[in-house]
Amino acid sequence: MKKNRLKIAIQKKGRLRESSLNFLTSCGLKFIPNGCSLIQKSEQGEIDLIFLRDDDIPEYVSRGIVDFAIIGRNVLLEKQMAAKTIRELNFAKCVLLIAVPINSLIKKPKDLNNKRIATTYPQLLKQYLIKNNINSTIIQISGSVEITPELDLADAICDIVQTGNTLKIHKLKPIDNILESQALLVTNNSMNYAKQKLKELLLK
Ligand code: PRP
Repeated sequence: MKKNRLKIAIQKKGRLRESSLNFLTSCGLKFIPNGCSLIQKSEQGEIDLIFLRDDDIPEYVSRGIVDFAIIGRNVLLEKQMAAKTIRELNFAKCVLLIAVPINSLIKKPKDLNNKRIATTYPQLLKQYLIKNNINSTIIQISGSVEITPELDLADAICDIVQTGNTLKIHKLKPIDNILESQALLVTNNSMNYAKQKLKELLLK
């Protein structure tokens, strides 16, 4: 891949992917599908669209490997990497919250003391617990968080909720919100003429 081409990263698969592609199309950017390749070239100019796992996107942006990216605020803050938000995109809106089984004796955040909380967001959960002076055990997992109370891996969960359907199916109820999230357009500190022009297009 040529080093001087501009690069935009979006989520490879998941709930941000289609809306991210629609946003780029609405900015007038067209990319040429290239089989199963994780890189698509733009029709108009020297721009590459890179499909990445969303957890990895902050790393690519902060290291200047990609010029722009679309990422959920939840992932950006969890990864604690340097990236500048230049636009809120108003899609993929969700809330990171704490939930417990509907019949749990845990009714309020203080009841989480000495309990186990499963999450894929250990950093954000840790910050929340410190801020609220709660002493819980964080069980870090990679997904299917809502099933952990049923299987007795955890007493509570800290996860993203969008429609609330997954909570309902697993008979869980929220007890506190940690963070509101949505898709963000982000960049890094490096700037040149071509990048500035692309930034103007993305901000129109
Ligand atoms: C998220 C989250 C929940 C689900 C909530 O998972 O972890 O499981 O969405 O959505 P809902 O409120 O609309 O039911 P996602 O599908 O994004 O996959 P992930 O496990 O990769 O995070």
